[in-house]
Amino acid sequence: MKSALLIGGTGFLGSAIARRLACRPASADFRLTLPTRRRERAKHLTTLPTASVVEANVHDEAVLAELMTGQDLVISLVGILKGDFQRAHVELPGKIARAAAAAGIPRLIHISALAAAADAPSKYLRSKAAGETAVKAAYPAATIFQPSVIFGRGDSFLTLFAGLLAVAPVVPLACPGARFQPVWVEDVATAVVACLDHPESQGQTYPLCGPREYTLRELVATTGQLSGHPRPIIGLPLALSYLQALMMEFVPGGPMTRDNVRSMQVPNVCPAGCTLPFGLAATPLEAVAPGYLSAK
Ligand SMILES: NC(=O)c1ccc[n+]([C@@H]2O[C@H](COP(=O)([O-])OP(=O)(O)OC[C@H]3O[C@@H](n4cnc5c(N)ncnc54)[C@H](OP(=O)(O)O)[C@@H]3O)[C@@H](O)[C@H]2O)c1
Repeated sequence: MKSALLIGGTGFLGSAIARRLACRPASADFRLTLPTRRRERAKHLTTLPTASVVEANVHDEAVLAELMTGQDLVISLVGILKGDFQRAHVELPGKIARAAAAAGIPRLIHISALAAAADAPSKYLRSKAAGETAVKAAYPAATIFQPSVIFGRGDSFLTLFAGLLAVAPVVPLACPGARFQPVWVEDVATAVVACLDHPESQGQTYPLCGPREYTLRELVATTGQLSGHPRPIIGLPLALSYLQALMMEFVPGGPMTRDNVRSMQVPNVCPAGCTLPFGLAATPLEAVAPGYLSAK
């Protein structure tokens, strides 16, 4: 049996990938190590027969070196929407890639984000681009994935809007014209696991998108329909979008920051005709979202 280390593997996407890796045909099953800052956050993964959840400080290079021992595959998934982007998105992936190279790990996969660019308008997207650069510098054969916004049961995107729509009579919406091409979490997990059977994916970067492009207004309206709470949506102009985000920055766990508004100034969509690699077909949002939004 092979061994895989999923750093940031306890979250929304990491859990989907962990389930896939643990449930491949028996001959290709992986023994998984899932480091976390808080073990209770990963309780849902302790039922996977080949998964081991360990509390570890993955920012500590000595800890990372120890975690790498005997691994056949390392997946780097840590991501945040606010906070210390330099530490989480640039320094950590660099440390992971250097440790993987030093340990002779045969495959490294890094999860970045669509529209990551050195000249992007937000710190989030610039730090994701710098993280890719750090990974490639230390481990040129790394495979990098850049998903658009990811939907699926347990997401923090459509589910967040569904919760808001359930209680708000009207939705004042920041950046209503922002463009996304949402991709299903299971499709992302499938693409990540599929790259293991495609040696030519080493050293490549793959954008990941769903089959259709939406504006944010369309996504919120669709969420309202599917969750049974259709509401009037009032699109905010840019200045008011920043003001709303500024106010939310003072709310603990607030869902939006001014940096998020800056991210939405660039389209989060794939080049025309491009959705998933390796001949995979992308699942429409309409085929999946009713299953988890209708109960909201
Ligand atoms: N979800 C999306 O729509 C989306 C879209 C594009 C790209 N991505 C990227 O995909 C990756 C996975 O996203 P996700 O939605 O699965 O995120 P998530 O559910 O928030 O999970 C984040 C993971 O990162 C770990 N983590 C967070 N901050 C950390 C820190 N400071 N130090 C160490 N570990 C930390 C968490 O571990 P603990 O167990 O310790 O909490 C958790 O395992 C991220 O890189 C994200 O940027 C996501």
